Amino acid sequence: MNNISANTSFIGKSVIYVPSCHSTNDALNNYASEKLAEGTVLVTTEQTKGRGQRGNTWECDQNANITLSIFLRPSFLEARNQFHLNVAISLAVYDTISSIAPRGTKIKWPNDILINQKKVCGILIENFIIGKNIDHTIVGIGININQKAFKGNFSATSLFIELKKKFQVRIVTESLLEHIESRYLQLKNKGYSALRKEYYTHLFWYQEIGDFEEYEKDGSSVRFKGQILGVDENGCLSIAKDDKKIKNYAFKEVKHLY
Ligand code: BTN
Repeated sequence: MNNISANTSFIGKSVIYVPSCHSTNDALNNYASEKLAEGTVLVTTEQTKGRGQRGNTWECDQNANITLSIFLRPSFLEARNQFHLNVAISLAVYDTISSIAPRGTKIKWPNDILINQKKVCGILIENFIIGKNIDHTIVGIGININQKAFKGNFSATSLFIELKKKFQVRIVTESLLEHIESRYLQLKNKGYSALRKEYYTHLFWYQEIGDFEEYEKDGSSVRFKGQILGVDENGCLSIAKDDKKIKNYAFKEVKHLY
C-alpha cells in the first residue's frame, strides 16, 4: 500500500511508507519532530512489535490491516486538556468504522473501538509536552481489516470477521485520514462540547449498569456494578457505584468486565 491519496488538506499529504517496522509510533518518533510537517503519516504493512496501552503488545497479520501513526502539533491544547484529543481521534475512528459497520460499533473508554463488543481498533496517543502545552503528538492507530483470526485473543475482531467481506486497506485508510482531519479541525475550532456529546452518544455502557473491576494500589481488586456517568476533565471515567458513591477512575484503575 504505497499510494494513499486522501481528500484532505494536511493529514496524509506527506506519507512515509515503510515495508516493515517494530512500531509505527516509534518509527515516526525517530524522525526529528521539528522537520516533520503536521499531518505526516507513517504507514507499514508489517509491524513486528506493535505497542498498545498499559504496556501491552498489538499483534496483527502482515498486509491485512491498518497500522499507521500520524504526527500532530496540537499546541493549541493545554496539557491538562489532552483528553479532548482522545475524544476527537476516537470519534474520527468511530466515524470511519461505523460508516462500514453501522450496527454494533461503539467507543469503549478511553479509546478502543468495538464492534459487537469485540475490539476492532486500538489507539495509542503519545503526547510530548513542553511547559503547559502539548508540543507534538504521535497518534498510532491499528484497525483490524481483513485478518481472519486472532491467536488466543477472543476479544479481538476484524471488519472481515464481522461483515464476512474483504475490504481494501487503502480505501479505509483514506477514509480514516479524512475523518481525522475533520475531527481534528473541529477540536482546533474549540468544538469541545459537541465532541464530548457525540463521544457519549457512542460510548459503550454510557448510562447503563455494567460490571467493573477496580484495582487497589496494593494490587488487590474488587468487582462491582456501576453506571458510567461520563468522563471528567482529566479523562477519568466517572462511575456511580452500587453503594451510590461516585468515583472517578484513571485508566489503569478500572476495567469493564464483559
Ligand atoms: C491498544 O489498544 O492497546 C492500542 C493499540 C495501538 C496499536 C497501534 S498499531 C499502529 C501504532 N503503532 C504501535 O506500535 N501501536 C499503534
